[in-house]
Amino acid sequence: MKSIKELEEIRNRTLEKVNLRKDRQTGIRVVVGMATCGIAAGARPVLHAFMEEISKRKLQDVIVTQTGCIGVCRLEPIVEVFVPGEEKVTYVEMTPEKVARVVAEHIVNGRVVKEFTIGSYE
Ligand code: FES
Repeated sequence: MKSIKELEEIRNRTLEKVNLRKDRQTGIRVVVGMATCGIAAGARPVLHAFMEEISKRKLQDVIVTQTGCIGVCRLEPIVEVFVPGEEKVTYVEMTPEKVARVVAEHIVNGRVVKEFTIGSYE
């Protein structure tokens, strides 16, 4: 049986961990634009592909979130990737097939897939 003091310590340690995760400085953030035009262009399968690929590879510290309008309808589906300490990368006209490459090359190996980025389209 653990003493109250021990339990307190465990609780504090756990809280510390949770807080660390909250202001995560280390995590990669993948943000999928899910405004109406994004969804119409196929953002939903792209979002699912990211979640699947990330869980298949058991990647820790990568979160996938959605946002509304990113502002460039004609290039939807648009995905932004935030790697701490680096500039944001915007991928355009995303498809589930492209997602697999972005995860393998950018998220796992740290190499931006230049030909899918907004810079290569404009
Ligand atoms: S409505 Fe299409 S990008 Fe905002």
